[in-house]
Amino acid sequence: MLMLAAFAAPIAAQSVRPPGNAVNLDDGIEDGPSNALGDISDTEIWDNFRGGNPRELFAAAPEGQVMTTTGQQWRVVREKLIRKYLGWLPVIVIGLLAVFYLIRGPMKITGGRSGKTIPRFTLSARVAHWFMAGVFIILGLTGLIILLGRVVIAPYLGLEFNSVLASAAMQGHNLFGPVFVFALIWLFIKFVRGNFFQWVDLKWIFKLGGFFGGHVSSRQFNFGEKSWFWMVILGGILISVTGIIMLFPTLVDDVRWLQLSTILHALGAVGLIAVAIGHIYVGTIGMEGSIDSMLKGEVDENWAKEHHDLWYEEVTGKSATAPETTEDAP
Ligand code: HEM
Repeated sequence: MLMLAAFAAPIAAQSVRPPGNAVNLDDGIEDGPSNALGDISDTEIWDNFRGGNPRELFAAAPEGQVMTTTGQQWRVVREKLIRKYLGWLPVIVIGLLAVFYLIRGPMKITGGRSGKTIPRFTLSARVAHWFMAGVFIILGLTGLIILLGRVVIAPYLGLEFNSVLASAAMQGHNLFGPVFVFALIWLFIKFVRGNFFQWVDLKWIFKLGGFFGGHVSSRQFNFGEKSWFWMVILGGILISVTGIIMLFPTLVDDVRWLQLSTILHALGAVGLIAVAIGHIYVGTIGMEGSIDSMLKGEVDENWAKEHHDLWYEEVTGKSATAPETTEDAP
């Protein structure tokens, strides 16, 4: 008996108390809920509980109403829109890139490799980049399992398997979430210089980045890279803020901030994942010589002249138009 009391005491202490304005339906249950909620009709109350109007997703709950419909509406947005359609975005991007690769192939260095290299990124900048890339990939994979496991994994591998996987993914996601904030600040400090938009970027836009032919001038970073940088920073801030709200829900005083956070978090994260796939394509198989900058910290001179001619002239003091002799480099 004593043991039972000792066991029950902490549970009782943690029990969720109803808010001050909560209505005890037992008092007038024989008259239906309208008795408890003033002049709102029964139909209106039950209609609200069941679903209500999705357009009122974040509208304020009527004063004195204990239960709101926003939970149900949030579920509808999450199940019917986000879970059903958002997951297709990365798949579409991969499909488009595959088609682009088949038609266009990799962007080769026109003059071939010169065999001479110039430094592009310091070791600390590269570590900041790979640290962010690693954390982003872990969070992206675990996040996608949490969001889409029920529709993508469970039907094929079973509910139990999905549930174990999703629990593990949730632990990993919660652990690496705060690390992402640190990685983001570090990436910003290391790469912000050179990522401010300039007039020369307009030419890059008009020539569609040279992806369909033609030469485009650029300083250290071209318009595509600058846009990617700011997407990572701004999207990263959105994901970080909404993630922190979900990790520490008591930071907000209204459950609707929490619901809004889950939706914005998923939109921001899947949007960034889709663009990251494009970035990874250009950084690897899409453009010859690109990955050298992030692996070795230096790039071939001909690559620099072709893709970042103004930066090449700035760094070397030489003209970017005079071609170097081509030799086969490993
Ligand atoms: C495994 C995947 C990845 C590869 C292979 C890769 C490759 C590269 C390469 C080669 C560059 C240098 C481009 C140049 O020299 O101009 C670069 C730059 C950069 N990457 Fe990645 N990357 C990857 C993942 C990521 C991820 C996940 C993020 C962020 C979420 C990211 C953010 C950046 C940023 C911000 C820059 C600098 C571009 C700028 O400041 O404009 N990368 N990456």
